Amino acid sequence: MRRALDLEPEASDKGAVETAPTQGDGAQAEAPRLPRTFGHYVLFDLIGRGGMAEIYLARAKTQEAGGARLVVVKQILPELSANAKFADALVQEAKLAARLSHANVAQVFDLGREGRDQRLFIAMEYVEGLDLNELLRKCARTKVPLPIEFALLVIMEVLRGLDYAHRRTDDAGRPLGIVHRDVSPSNVLVSVEGEVKLCDFGIARANDVAERAGARDAFAPDAIQGKAGYMSPEHARGEPLDGRADVFAAGVILWELLAGRRMYKADKERGESLLALARRGEVPELPERGLPFEDEIRGIVFKALAIDREQRFVTAAAMLDALQRYVARARLVASPIRLGDWLTEHFGNELVATRRARERAVKALEAGPAAAVTPVTSTAEQPSSAPIRPVSLWPPAAPPTPEGDVAIPKPPGAPAIVAAPLDAAANGSPAPKSRVGTIVVAIAAVLLVVALVLALVAR
Ligand SMILES: Nc1ncnc2c1ncn2[C@@H]1O[C@H](COP(=O)(O)OP(=O)(O)OP(=O)(O)O)[C@@H](O)[C@H]1O
Ligand SMILES: [Mg+2]
Repeated sequence: MRRALDLEPEASDKGAVETAPTQGDGAQAEAPRLPRTFGHYVLFDLIGRGGMAEIYLARAKTQEAGGARLVVVKQILPELSANAKFADALVQEAKLAARLSHANVAQVFDLGREGRDQRLFIAMEYVEGLDLNELLRKCARTKVPLPIEFALLVIMEVLRGLDYAHRRTDDAGRPLGIVHRDVSPSNVLVSVEGEVKLCDFGIARANDVAERAGARDAFAPDAIQGKAGYMSPEHARGEPLDGRADVFAAGVILWELLAGRRMYKADKERGESLLALARRGEVPELPERGLPFEDEIRGIVFKALAIDREQRFVTAAAMLDALQRYVARARLVASPIRLGDWLTEHFGNELVATRRARERAVKALEAGPAAAVTPVTSTAEQPSSAPIRPVSLWPPAAPPTPEGDVAIPKPPGAPAIVAAPLDAAANGSPAPKSRVGTIVVAIAAVLLVVALVLALVAR
């Protein structure tokens, strides 16, 4: 029996992206100038903005067998790059993350500083597809519910990645003590092939360190609030963390996938913040969905979400094991291949369109000196804007307001770029040459008709 999850459309947590340069704002003014060289990379598409970085699709300058590699370059915002405490913590964490190599973890390739302003960056594997936020938004917009077997598959793959990272040791066998700290839907990437990869391992610690040092005042409220929806109580209270904080966060995502809405909702009228909710860790009632052996899956969710971490699953592997038993008992069969087929079936057209546009952009880059490349945002999807806001995962598929400045949910993600010469063809307007040809043929036809008429009249 295939059961699907109903995802209630609600407001988005990402606002609309500003595609036009904003004078006086370093990061945003720079953004549209693409492609541009950045160290060993050519950045050619802005694919997202988070609370601390801009995310570019880039081509590595060094050729490899099979062509230039596409990578994601996470360019840390200038204000943060220049902050010594933040930078030290980020570099330390990114070095640990670079040691991770697992199918369920987006691989970190490179980190350093580049450019005139010595911007910090992290280069990582490009996961072509959607993040979990985007996927849920697409589901809500198209009213195609995510089948429960795939929802559980996503969580199980995330747990696999977490378990691997939590158990990593250094060369001498000492535990590295890696904790992700920011397991949330925007950091869960689902590829078009149905693979699930967790990205941004440990990066949130840089935020915490800078925050504790009082160095992130200007950014902290938004960044921390947005992420508070997935924080364990101990994290929200600023206590030392271990892998069980990530287990809690995976539990929140599972709760939300089952309920079809965000778990914590701050009551703004009462002046209640998400962070305050997270500190208390009071998990709301999970609506009944009529799932097979529902008590069992609910038991798993609430065990992952225990306020006292001693009561939680001891490890990500223990939670994974419980979920595996549940899916076997409930006969919920899923695999990455099936998830990939399902994505292709429902969202294939949009995903393929994005891929084609990026392929054209790469070809344009390879064709010669950096051509003028125009970012083209697909009508359905737009990259995320900087502020992370504590709102819901499932937005209404409403048309934008005429004012345009409010956060009508514009999904983040996949704007494509098309090299300027291709634009004309893409817009369907004929090139000047073919227009001249058409006029010549038309005149010739008219002259022929006139000649025929004259011949007839002469007879
Ligand atoms: N390796 C990647 N491959 C493909 N897309 C990515 C990759 N990394 C990030 N993205 C996309 O870029 C978006 C923004 O990422 P970013 O990490 O800057 O913001 P965030 O995840 O919303 O917040 P945070 O700063 O807390 O991680 C992601 O939501 C995702 O859609
Ligand atoms: Mg992220």
